[in-house]
Amino acid sequence: MRQREHLTPYGNKPMVTPIVSAVNYEYVSFEILQQITDGEIDGYTYHRDDNPTIRAVEKEIALMEKANDCVICTTGMAALTMIFLTYLKAGDNLLTFHDVYGANYKVSLILEKFGVEITWLDAAEPEKVAESIKDNTKMIFCETPSNPLVKVVDIKYLRQQADRVGALLVVDNTFATPYHQLPLTLGADLVVHSATKGLGGHNDLMTGVIACSSRQFYDELWFTRQAIGTTLDAFSASLLERGLKTFEIRAAKMSENAMAIAEFLAGHPKITRICYPGLPGDAGHKTACSQMKKGFGGVLAFDVGKTQAEAKKFVEKLKVIYHAVSLGCTETLVCLPVLTTMLYLPEERRTTFGVSPNTVRLSAGIGDTKELIADLKQALDWDKA
Ligand SMILES: Cc1ncc(COP(=O)(O)O)c(C=O)c1O
Repeated sequence: MRQREHLTPYGNKPMVTPIVSAVNYEYVSFEILQQITDGEIDGYTYHRDDNPTIRAVEKEIALMEKANDCVICTTGMAALTMIFLTYLKAGDNLLTFHDVYGANYKVSLILEKFGVEITWLDAAEPEKVAESIKDNTKMIFCETPSNPLVKVVDIKYLRQQADRVGALLVVDNTFATPYHQLPLTLGADLVVHSATKGLGGHNDLMTGVIACSSRQFYDELWFTRQAIGTTLDAFSASLLERGLKTFEIRAAKMSENAMAIAEFLAGHPKITRICYPGLPGDAGHKTACSQMKKGFGGVLAFDVGKTQAEAKKFVEKLKVIYHAVSLGCTETLVCLPVLTTMLYLPEERRTTFGVSPNTVRLSAGIGDTKELIADLKQALDWDKA
């Protein structure tokens, strides 16, 4: 006779959600099976459908984003692709911005193969949204602040525009994180994260998150994930849960470091442009103040000197800050977007909306502020003995 035992003999609960690595589950009864398949209860049958470790983290992130519920999947790009597959079809128009993470361009090529029409705008020209909305616009998708130039888009304004034609509004909140910005409270229907970044925070897991404003969105996106199999593994979900335990203090320190670094760089003669919405002179500052709180996030972008050779010399001289892609993690990272995240974009797309060959993106980590600034200072002195 098989025994069913509690995890602990007297029901004491573990402080961490257990990692359930099972792919399938023994059914307790046909009644329970029916309730699970009818979606009445979070019972579990097969990992591609659902997993209790993942479900616990989904509920936690839903609370953080003030969402009805949340769907977690394998990567940030999987999350975005699931949204596009679920809500767009041939003949529909997707209105989006050049100022989104580079891999979205690759996904756009796939969507075009299936007959989706895409309008690309510059986030620095929001007035163009009103002119470009069409009857067949079914979705507006933006990042704010954007990758890599941290341009800020007014979420409430996009909501108004989307409402003109009943379009969905999807906001990638990876740069801001729920610590600084809650797009669902500003009118977004869906919020996406590459939780590979700030939510996870330790460069050790890839995952994507979709926070949903309604149960209907959750059900529809759950259906897509279950169908195409973009379900995360339970071990990664546990790493994400661990990341969330320190998320707020990491986000606060990153934003504090980013602000201090932006202020330092803004006054440095070798920095020819600085983009950070926390700086009062930044084009996105006013809007950022109205929709972000407790700071402006951990990422900034800046141009070093006039040439890429100068930017490379600066990066090569850094001692504390790492030369690596990704962002939102404990270490401070820099990369040249034209050589990394934007490498595979056609030439005209790489530069026409503001990224230059000497643009550096910096993601502030949680290290000592003075040490980071000292590192930047000595690296900018590449021409001094
Ligand atoms: C803003 C933003 N969204 C989405 C993604 C894609 O996330 P992932 O690498 O987890 O697929 C990235 C990756 O850098 C990103 O920066």
